[in-house]
Amino acid sequence: MDKSEKFALGVSGLLLAVFFLAIVYMQVVQNIEVPTCITDVEPFTTDTLFQVGEDEYELHMIARMWAFQPSSVTLPVGSKVHLYVTSIDIIHGFKIENKNVNLMAVPGAINYIPVTFEEEGEYFFACHEFCGAAHHAMAGRIIIADSDDVQSAGGQP
Ligand code: CUA
Repeated sequence: MDKSEKFALGVSGLLLAVFFLAIVYMQVVQNIEVPTCITDVEPFTTDTLFQVGEDEYELHMIARMWAFQPSSVTLPVGSKVHLYVTSIDIIHGFKIENKNVNLMAVPGAINYIPVTFEEEGEYFFACHEFCGAAHHAMAGRIIIADSDDVQSAGGQP
């Protein structure tokens, strides 16, 4: 082996040791926790939909291999939705058809966008990042219906 290769290997090994010891030092001496996954933190441990005001909702959308939770949401016309998107495994995408909504679903992070649905109809959403064997199956829909229909159908909310 060439001298320069040995030198590069030695420096690489030394740097690895320094970085590893730095993490151990931070955890043991400084008592700083290595960050947990955001989906371990309330209120993002599960998918939820709740009303935060008149015609205003908060939706936590969780992406996973290979589905969205929830896969179907029914809301009344005129709903403003505070949409939070995250992933519990790998990087996914989240795009709502015919809406200006295009987010990444990233483990350890939460992406936010507010979106208002002024018109009745079905708004399909899908994963737009290739994420494996059943990527094509990652889809769902937001159904925007007349307020009375939402109530009588017994749907959320
Ligand atoms: Cu998830 Cu593609």
